[in-house]
Amino acid sequence: MKESTPKTTRLEKYIATSGIASRRAVKKSIRAGVVTVNGESILVPGHPINVEMDTVEFEGKRVEPLVEHIYLMLNKPAGYLTTRRDERRRPTVMDLVAELPDTIYPVGRLDLETEGLLLFTNDGDFAYRLLHPSHEVEKTYLVWAKGVSDDDAIQRLRQGVMIPSGTTAPAKVKRLRVNKDGATTKFEVVIHEGKKRQVRLMFKAVGHPVIRLKRVQIGNLELGNLPSGEYRFLTSAEISELMR
Ligand code: URA
Repeated sequence: MKESTPKTTRLEKYIATSGIASRRAVKKSIRAGVVTVNGESILVPGHPINVEMDTVEFEGKRVEPLVEHIYLMLNKPAGYLTTRRDERRRPTVMDLVAELPDTIYPVGRLDLETEGLLLFTNDGDFAYRLLHPSHEVEKTYLVWAKGVSDDDAIQRLRQGVMIPSGTTAPAKVKRLRVNKDGATTKFEVVIHEGKKRQVRLMFKAVGHPVIRLKRVQIGNLELGNLPSGEYRFLTSAEISELMR
């Protein structure tokens, strides 16, 4: 389990974790008078540093501490909000990763009732690349929709339908199975846009409201058999594949 980043630390530790020199060498430099904190010369190692507020300079250059980047996937259960904080204190996805550093945040969002693959990171560049519309990362969903759709409805979903935020781009839609009693049909849908409630609104537009929705893949990254409510760290191969 990873520890959360402390907000205060010792001056020599702060400088050493930025990779400038070892902690021992940094202590020597502090005593030699090459370190300032918020513009003031500090000669004693051990001086407390607020990592969020203080500006540290070493030989006149700003020290930027190295941040350990974290990348993980959660299998989000229904009933959790995708937000970092809820004023009404309802369950949020952050509750499911509570023991991890509080610098991580969800990449994109899933609706309250949507389940499945949700990524978290503290790497802004990674989040930006995945979310930017020009990157068109494909997202795969399993959809359980009401009724039995005819080929015409499927064709319309594939071509694009009108939803309140505009016409949806062409999607890949596969009918997987019709429930025995004919009450629901299961589909696999691949989209690369991220309009609000897009899949639900697409199916509503063709007369088959969504009963259950689960995201199972982002790009080549699959949720696999990760149990609901659990998370796992991404491998470096998975991270570079998503960054490509
Ligand atoms: N489409 C939806 O309708 N909801 C989601 O959570 C994701 C995609």
